[in-house]
Amino acid sequence: MSVDLFRWIVDHQATALVLLNGQLDIEYMNSSAESLFARSGNQLHGQSWQHLFTPDNGLKELLERVLVERVPTTQRSEKLTLSADGSRITVDITITPLADDGPLYILVEFLSMDRILKISREEASLAKQEAARVLVRGLAHEVKNPLGGIRGAAQLLAIELGDQRYDEYTSIIIEEADRLRNLVDRILGSNRIPKWASTNIHEVLERVLRLMQVEAGESIRFERDYDPSLPEIDADREQLIQAVLNIVRNGMEALQGQGDDNPQKTMHLSTRAIRQFTIGKQRHRLVLQLRIEDNGPGIDRELMENMFYPMVSGRAQGSGLGLSIAQQVVAQHAGVIDCESEPGRTRFTLYLPIGAQA
Ligand SMILES: Nc1ncnc2c1ncn2[C@@H]1O[C@H](COP(=O)(O)OP(=O)(O)O)[C@@H](O)[C@H]1O
Ligand SMILES: [Mg+2]
Repeated sequence: MSVDLFRWIVDHQATALVLLNGQLDIEYMNSSAESLFARSGNQLHGQSWQHLFTPDNGLKELLERVLVERVPTTQRSEKLTLSADGSRITVDITITPLADDGPLYILVEFLSMDRILKISREEASLAKQEAARVLVRGLAHEVKNPLGGIRGAAQLLAIELGDQRYDEYTSIIIEEADRLRNLVDRILGSNRIPKWASTNIHEVLERVLRLMQVEAGESIRFERDYDPSLPEIDADREQLIQAVLNIVRNGMEALQGQGDDNPQKTMHLSTRAIRQFTIGKQRHRLVLQLRIEDNGPGIDRELMENMFYPMVSGRAQGSGLGLSIAQQVVAQHAGVIDCESEPGRTRFTLYLPIGAQA
């Protein structure tokens, strides 16, 4: 078998593979490892494996044991913190020493449990969310039809009665009909056919940030960490703005709700290109990763499971439509949204394919 073919196979493995030499320096990382650890194998070539993770991990002991004993070892559900971006992953690790008389190499395989959990959860819950959206849309249609009639009749009534004593009542009917109409339009409005065009993601983000900065004033600091080399993506610009806006606005509202408890209210937006990434069942050569992070109060576990459904809200005044619409837009772009949250850090990650499938 040719070396090229061999390398091609290794690069298309879903398992993250890292090859270390006898000094535990990195010889090679496959594409899955690059995307799991958010680091480039070329850049880390010849450097210690410890560059991948923060120091507090159990891998050191495992590797040293394999160096001495020279027998394969497996460790289940090991938790590691990535040095690249501080995110925490749970992996099954298999370490195999390779030495056929020649110099010693150590192959380390990382099977990400998070990713597997997420993919299975995504498929099941995406179908349920879609069913909920269809239901809510059907209901919205039924509500919308008679609304015009109710409003018109109330206006006629006000004129017929010609008595200011009743204006208060007729105007309540009209205002409430308008409020319902607004809500219904928001539910139904998101279903127009997308207008595809080559779109610069950073223009989308800047547009959202300008809008948000007007609303938030000085109270929130917006940080940007963009990868300027990202190619444009094929997208519906307006819809993408809507999706990102909904997510950023939620973060902003959560931060504003903290008042003086959080004097350093910060939102952080970052973009990266990720190679060989699987969304649903489809593997993509290149994917845009957009992270929207806030240092607010975090999201309750229970709410997290349901917040992508329409009409699910954690706020008294919330419509619960924001994330449902964002999810729908991203799904139309063949992408996916992940969310991790703990007090002090909530992170939404959007993955959007760039160009052709792998
Ligand atoms: N960054 C965040 N921090 C805290 N809570 C959040 C965040 N994003 C979303 N949420 C929770 O998810 C709920 C659903 O959001 P959304 O679908 O936009 O509906 P709405 O904003 O109308 O409530 C919010 O009400 C809020 O409780
Ligand atoms: Mg919202």
